[in-house]
Amino acid sequence: MITLNSLSKIYRTDEIETVALENVNLTVERGEFLSIMGPSGCGKSTLLNIMGLLDAPTMGIVEINGIRTEGMKDKELAVFRNKTLGFVFQSFHLINSLNVMDNVELPLLYRRVGSSERKRLAQEVLEKVGLSHRMRHFPTQLSGGQCQRVAIARAIIGNPEIILADEPTGNLDSRMGAEVMELLHRLNKEDGRTIVMVTHNEEQAKQTSRTIRFFDGRQVQ
Ligand SMILES: Nc1ncnc2c1ncn2[C@@H]1O[C@H](COP(=O)(O)OP(=O)(O)OP(=O)(O)O)[C@@H](O)[C@H]1O
Ligand SMILES: [Mg+2]
Repeated sequence: MITLNSLSKIYRTDEIETVALENVNLTVERGEFLSIMGPSGCGKSTLLNIMGLLDAPTMGIVEINGIRTEGMKDKELAVFRNKTLGFVFQSFHLINSLNVMDNVELPLLYRRVGSSERKRLAQEVLEKVGLSHRMRHFPTQLSGGQCQRVAIARAIIGNPEIILADEPTGNLDSRMGAEVMELLHRLNKEDGRTIVMVTHNEEQAKQTSRTIRFFDGRQVQ
């Protein structure tokens, strides 16, 4: 379960101050599939990054599975994030010089899991996303939809309970987008993972989510 309490985020540079989030409150229940929609620039990515402990709020509380994250040291935060959360981004964020299997294994490398166990788990998650036959391919040799499925395999290899996806189908055509949505749907329904997705696609959100919330940078409705 994720609780965000009175969350604010102000980006400051020398000259400019941007209030991206102002006093936002949100609760995500365990096992929920939540879609967050809202206009461009309203702070959805900022919200997701803070929820995923990739960025810190200016003010407010982030609590994940009963653990409050303020005051955690960087290393502690990284360990907690790696164990609890999986990320999927619009632009996949795969490393083009590594093949599919090596990309998928990366989170386990940071956890110092041994090589044979890494390979076994990578094979398992690649089977889950329907890409075990593409293990030795490189990202540039795959379609966008396949790249996103590799990114999802990487997100779930450490068995995180929560998956955060920021416009996961934003770079895909409708057929490939549908494949990726089907996969996220299964990860929620069959595996019971909590999913929070930012999207501009209302149809997709309606088909997949249990909950859709609209966000304007201040309030989540
Ligand atoms: N690193 C940053 N430094 C300064 N301002 C930022 C930074 N990141 C985001 N912003 C500003 O914060 C606001 C919210 O940005 P954010 O990326 O969260 O919006 P978004 O809802 O995800 O938009 P989109 O739908 O276009 O992806 C915007 O006004 C943006 O310009
Ligand atoms: Mg965004």
